[in-house]
Amino acid sequence: MAQDKVFIFDTTLRDGEQSPGATMTHTEKLEIASMLDEMGVDIIEAGFPIASEGDFEAVSAIAKASRNSVICGLSRANFRDIDRAWEAVKHAARPRIHTFIGTSPLHRAIPNLDMDQMAERIHDTVTHARNLCGDVQWSPMDATRTEHDYLCRVIEIAIKAGATTINIPDTVGYTAPRESADLIRMLLERVPGADEIIFATHCHNDLGMATANSLAAVEAGARQIECTINGLGERAGNTALEEVVMAMKVRNDIMPYTTGIDSTKLTAISRKVATVSGFAVQFNKAIVGKNAFAHESGIHQDGMLKNAETFEIMRPTDVGLSETSLVLGKHSGRAALRSKLKDLGFDVADNQLADVFVRFKTLADRKKEVYDEDLLALMQDVDTTAAYDKLVIRRLRVVCGTDGPQEAQLTLSIDGTDHMAEATGDGPVDAAFNAINSLVEHKARLALYQVHAITEGTDAQATVSVRLEEDGKIATGQAADTDTVVASARAYVNALNRLILRREKNAPDHDKKAVNYRDAS
Ligand code: KIV
Ligand code: ZN
Repeated sequence: MAQDKVFIFDTTLRDGEQSPGATMTHTEKLEIASMLDEMGVDIIEAGFPIASEGDFEAVSAIAKASRNSVICGLSRANFRDIDRAWEAVKHAARPRIHTFIGTSPLHRAIPNLDMDQMAERIHDTVTHARNLCGDVQWSPMDATRTEHDYLCRVIEIAIKAGATTINIPDTVGYTAPRESADLIRMLLERVPGADEIIFATHCHNDLGMATANSLAAVEAGARQIECTINGLGERAGNTALEEVVMAMKVRNDIMPYTTGIDSTKLTAISRKVATVSGFAVQFNKAIVGKNAFAHESGIHQDGMLKNAETFEIMRPTDVGLSETSLVLGKHSGRAALRSKLKDLGFDVADNQLADVFVRFKTLADRKKEVYDEDLLALMQDVDTTAAYDKLVIRRLRVVCGTDGPQEAQLTLSIDGTDHMAEATGDGPVDAAFNAINSLVEHKARLALYQVHAITEGTDAQATVSVRLEEDGKIATGQAADTDTVVASARAYVNALNRLILRREKNAPDHDKKAVNYRDAS
């Protein structure tokens, strides 16, 4: 029997990118959108076009480049927002406008509208959106805390005004599975015209129930799940795409629904989103965590060797993890590297392979065995070092040991010109950061500094994450190296480059020089 299709609506580039510190560049957004399109996501919410010029440009570039997915732009409930969203998505083969307003008592108080005034606003804005675009989604924000009678009333208005999808957001992650299902059932029973539109579920994970709430809504009749890769999103995040997709696949016996997602692409996109957002995936995260398929206990390993199904409900290859454990070394050639990268989910073009191969050889010279984790870190490094970076470390030499003070000598290229600096510090990392700060003027506060060893052994690479905060804006940087101090300095510079990018985006046109350099010569 044919199974009902559940549409997957990905909002990594909108709700996900909204989480503090997860800002992505224009190119990164385009790359992620292209991966989402290729893996079979039905609808990509590409951004919030009125929010900034950068958001508008990214949504419109994604709309132009999209091949299969519907491209959606978010707007508040006013004509200016809606017109801007339409301007951005109209070039897509399949555009969608998504407009929303908060309908719960707390949210109604913000624009100071009474129930009737808000109902009128919903009618007018949805009608306006529908006059521009044949595909309109409407959301009553904080739906799960809205009075049922009022929710039914405004949804009926939105449907009559032309909305084709009604999204039910659990904006603050407050609902629980049974309630999530009951709400959809109630709406399907009570709202006239409900059978002619698609109900969507949009859950946040504040109580750790986003996946369960989304699946419960589907069982009750919702046919669109809104989610993000790795569950990225504000606070505790949104429903994780990989979790709902794999749950419906693995437990299709009790959740008989199909999606258009090619699950073998999940690992690659998870890594990509983790890299560009700077939000690492927790090791024990379902489906895409580093340990999701690792079996360490003796009993488990024994069982796995006899029959993998003893402890595995899905195969690693189902989510795009390779089963081979080929370890590369300094004698490995380009073909072996390319094939290994393909196994890890990276399809590198010839010109990129040349660059990656040089980095791989440098690493292999310093490290006898290059493991999958090393290559992942290396690819992450390739991703975070952009051709347009204004700051590039050319040379760093740090003296450390028991007889302080620790000293750093640095050559930093700034806009293509090399500058030199020396600084001391409370430890080698502090000395390196001080040397950088002596050349680059900024007011950013170091909000996070984290070091992870990627593999075991004293020659292991370290991945360093740095988070900087300047005037309420957050930028994250990452880098990997067998030398922890070098990785730290590069992660710091990576975060500064992102901060500069943000300043440039926000600077008025006549003042595009958004970074000041101290003259250390
Ligand atoms: O969580 C939420 O309510 C939202 C809406 C804008 C749909 O993200
Ligand atoms: Zn949301």
